[in-house]
Amino acid sequence: MYTPQDEKRLYEQAKYLLQHDLKSAEDTIAQLREVINYADWQYYVQNDPTLSDSEYDGLYKKLKQEEEKYPELVTADSPTQRVAQGLSERFPTVSHLVPMLSLDNTYNAEDLTDWDRRCRDFAGVEEIEYCVEPKYDGASISLIYENGALARGATRGDGVMGEDVTANIRQIKAIPLSASLVKQGIQQIEIRGEIVIHKNVFEAYNKQRVSEGLSPLANPRNAASGTLRILDSAEVRKRGLNAILYHISDYTLMEGAQRPEQLSTHYGSLQWLYDLGFPTPAKEMKVFKHIDDVIKYCHEFEGHRDELPFEVDGLVIKVNDFALQDMMGMTSHHPRWAVAFKFKARQATSRLLKVEFQVGRTGSITPVAKIEPVPIGGVTVTSVSLFNEDVVREKDVRIGDTVLVERAGDVIPYIVKPLTELRTGDEVEIKFPTHCPACNSELEKQQDEAAWRCININCPVQVVERMIHFASKDAMDIRSLGSANVQKFYELGLLPDIPGIYHIDWDKVKQLGGFGEKSVTNLQQAIEQSKKQPLYRVIYGLGIRHVGETTAKTLASAVSHISEFYDWNIEKLSMLQDIGPKVATSVIDFFARKENRRIIDMLGAAGVNLANENKGQMKTDGALAGKTFLFTGTLSHFKRSDAEAIVEEKGGAILGGVSSKLNYLVTGEDAGSKLEKAKKLGTVAILTEQEFLELVGE
Ligand code: IVH
Repeated sequence: MYTPQDEKRLYEQAKYLLQHDLKSAEDTIAQLREVINYADWQYYVQNDPTLSDSEYDGLYKKLKQEEEKYPELVTADSPTQRVAQGLSERFPTVSHLVPMLSLDNTYNAEDLTDWDRRCRDFAGVEEIEYCVEPKYDGASISLIYENGALARGATRGDGVMGEDVTANIRQIKAIPLSASLVKQGIQQIEIRGEIVIHKNVFEAYNKQRVSEGLSPLANPRNAASGTLRILDSAEVRKRGLNAILYHISDYTLMEGAQRPEQLSTHYGSLQWLYDLGFPTPAKEMKVFKHIDDVIKYCHEFEGHRDELPFEVDGLVIKVNDFALQDMMGMTSHHPRWAVAFKFKARQATSRLLKVEFQVGRTGSITPVAKIEPVPIGGVTVTSVSLFNEDVVREKDVRIGDTVLVERAGDVIPYIVKPLTELRTGDEVEIKFPTHCPACNSELEKQQDEAAWRCININCPVQVVERMIHFASKDAMDIRSLGSANVQKFYELGLLPDIPGIYHIDWDKVKQLGGFGEKSVTNLQQAIEQSKKQPLYRVIYGLGIRHVGETTAKTLASAVSHISEFYDWNIEKLSMLQDIGPKVATSVIDFFARKENRRIIDMLGAAGVNLANENKGQMKTDGALAGKTFLFTGTLSHFKRSDAEAIVEEKGGAILGGVSSKLNYLVTGEDAGSKLEKAKKLGTVAILTEQEFLELVGE
């Protein structure tokens, strides 16, 4: 859709428009729309933005201001018109141009071989070309474009009638509001696809729900289909939905127009849509001439299913040639020319045996359901978090219930619901403790929180968990001081609290079984080395509530010594980037406590680095100072997070996408669009993993 020349021009146009106006407001508005549409496409379709968030916001704000000055120039396809138009009373029912059918399912090689035989018999041919693409697990939609503009978006409904959710569909930035279809001779087109939600967006959303006392949604599919039917489209906008379009179900040509050549195969049609700016699986599709190759690919792909940013529940195999598809037709349930290959189920039923209450690092009490072991998607699940009391009450799960459990990819397992129809009457209500299961202090619940909390700062479980967190990889990275050793040392009185890590009686450790000379030396060295860790790791390691790694970095870069925070107040903290009142209050409370100050002072006395020499700036003295890096593809020599840490350590910076600002692209196996783009740009140095290691001298 965009040639490298277009991309260069649009990038420069965006930069120019941020600073300047054009001669006429009409031109300024037209060009702003062009660059914003381009930026949306890069961000949502390519997953590869070149403009920073603030540049994007600047352009959007400017367009909005211009349109407010000249309301007569506002058009329905302007990016500003994605904005919600208030609440819908309910969604009108609409009929689909072509019924939205389902797919027939296959589960193994034999099913696929049978399907291939039926296809070839039906078509009366020896060989059929198949196109294979992911089966996205979301909510299916139908989009109609008329004269190049998005005219309607509808849910599947019962397949014949769906709900008109156009206002919500317009909030999804992956879906173009207009496209150059008229130029292609297309008057009207109906495109089918799936609304999906990225797994990380889903996890973050669920975390937020749980913290608000709501129950988490069971899977990204429910989240996508639920969001699509929310009446307040402003809320839909916040949820970060995405879309993948995988089928043209109908189109009419402009009078006298020729059918675009690519609309003769499925592969060609999705490539054509992609080139017009639509999000299709153009990069993921594969074509095969023999079913055995399809089968091989299906099995290979299943092993990699978790690597995609969205949930996929299988692959879809489609006859590539449209003429052949038309000949084969469909049953009332599914087309004969397509079939789904379903991956192993990730839902199973099991019995809830008991509920244990775990104490977390911050004292929160989490109910954890112990279930009869059940394999789900290749993993045996025995424990499932029930999050908090509100979730338990809302789902009305009871001990003894048969429960439906789902593990959606790398998303943690959830109890979807109890199967109430299987109840015998012997099920027992889950009782919440009033006292801490570890230290027996009375539990408290704050007004705006869903979790019960043990507020005894010396609660043994919390003390141990805090030490484990302090030593963990992303904090002080004291290898071999993992949870088992911390627990053991604590129980033996060798490790009373965090500063105690630097005062372990090694003679006593040596007398313990299982600690040879070598492992003691290793542990001593790791502890010694941790004293030199940068300040942000110490701050993160202290386990201040609501302070993750990013916030810890922000905090560390604002001071030259941690003790400066003793004199800060909420107002001063709130001035820092991305620190809201909740985080600020938590940080101030933490540093106000005598006990915490004692821990910090003791760490300082033990020689732990509590200073930051580069207050208010990025590192400028490292070997990679001022250089920018990006990693892509599957890395086999090191972990991405470790490599990124090396770059930052040496003063370099990590970028989010390939742009003219990028100096080095480090490529692992199967590097895709980022590599292509870097090659096109010609200004980026492309390194193998080995070359990267040599460059950084590791
Ligand atoms: S083709 C007539 N392709 O799976 C066209 N469907 O279980 C039929 N789905 O209702 C659809 N990914 O919502 C097709 N790449 C893909 C798909 C896909 C997900 C959904 C679709 C369908 C359901 C059937």
